[in-house]
Amino acid sequence: MTEYVLDHHNEGERARLALMSRLLDPMHRRHLEALGVGPGARTLEVGCGNGSVSAWLADRVRPGGHAVAVDLDLSLCDADAAPGLEFRAGDIIAAPVEPADYDVVTARAVLHHLADPAAAITNLVASGRAGGAFLLIEPDFLPVSIAEPAAVRGFWQGWLAWSREAGIDFFIGRKLPAMLADLELEDISVVAETPLYNGGSAWARYWAQTVGELRPRLEDSGHLDRRSIDTFLAHCGEPDWWTQSIAWTAVRARKPATGVLRDTAATASTVGTMKKLFELLVCFLHPIAVVLMWIDLATRPDMGRGTKIVWAIFGIVPLVPFLYVLTGGDLW
Ligand SMILES: C[S@@+](CC[C@H](N)C(=O)[O-])C[C@H]1O[C@@H](n2cnc3c(N)ncnc32)[C@H](O)[C@@H]1O
Repeated sequence: MTEYVLDHHNEGERARLALMSRLLDPMHRRHLEALGVGPGARTLEVGCGNGSVSAWLADRVRPGGHAVAVDLDLSLCDADAAPGLEFRAGDIIAAPVEPADYDVVTARAVLHHLADPAAAITNLVASGRAGGAFLLIEPDFLPVSIAEPAAVRGFWQGWLAWSREAGIDFFIGRKLPAMLADLELEDISVVAETPLYNGGSAWARYWAQTVGELRPRLEDSGHLDRRSIDTFLAHCGEPDWWTQSIAWTAVRARKPATGVLRDTAATASTVGTMKKLFELLVCFLHPIAVVLMWIDLATRPDMGRGTKIVWAIFGIVPLVPFLYVLTGGDLW
């Protein structure tokens, strides 16, 4: 296993991962939605960082589903991020995640850090069920080859030289489709998105934080000196400087199937509908429904305190638990 260079205990790493969530989760969620992940699905995210995508998945697969989030280091994850979300410490190079029956397996910004990405991909694929869906999102640093001005391009050349020596593959994005095809995955489709950002933006802050954390290693490597790093950081604060650095490569694929994900989603959604109907029946037993509603409100991460209190008080009115269930609330 490659030593992971951005230790979760580094000062500022929590904020850096929060920026990653803010910048990349919308794209990640869009791809997951396109895969059809819904109620009842079993999902696995590996290298979950702060767990933001898995928290979203846990909400998305309710009712009846299960979301598992794996990382070498769970210290920046919120154990109570979402009901039904299970965090597990684990190394994806060492073994598949059990039970190996996930409907959807995803990993973002993890594989490029690994000494043996092929072993990790084999284990990710082994963690999915037959017919299960895969979504890998990794960087490809092609855009830095045309970065302006020349001093910034020079910074990136030093950065890439350092990363090669550190065992990080910042060009893994373009290699993923062939790696998945070698494992006989099907329906492989790939798109890359390149954010264009200016100094002072969230992406520029992300880079300033990342480079700041790695600065001692970068300087010790001999590939970057203080001046080159300072020049890059100065540009990161300059609103008139526009640039691009990463083609975020999203690869979707499917394991050869006996059934397909869509079938599972359909079955799961039938289970979800039946559960809703049963909950509506329980609403006729008003005192029981109110208590179940209060318990659900107490554990809901997606609702503010004030709204919870209003629901809790008005729940005493007989028809309100019906309304609660019909507007997306769960009684269990
Ligand atoms: C750059 S962060 C990305 C976090 C998150 N996926 C995101 O995109 O915001 C890489 C994550 O992968 C985890 N990681 C690194 N090597 C791993 C391994 N061998 N097995 C599981 N997780 C690993 C790190 O601990 C870290 O949380």
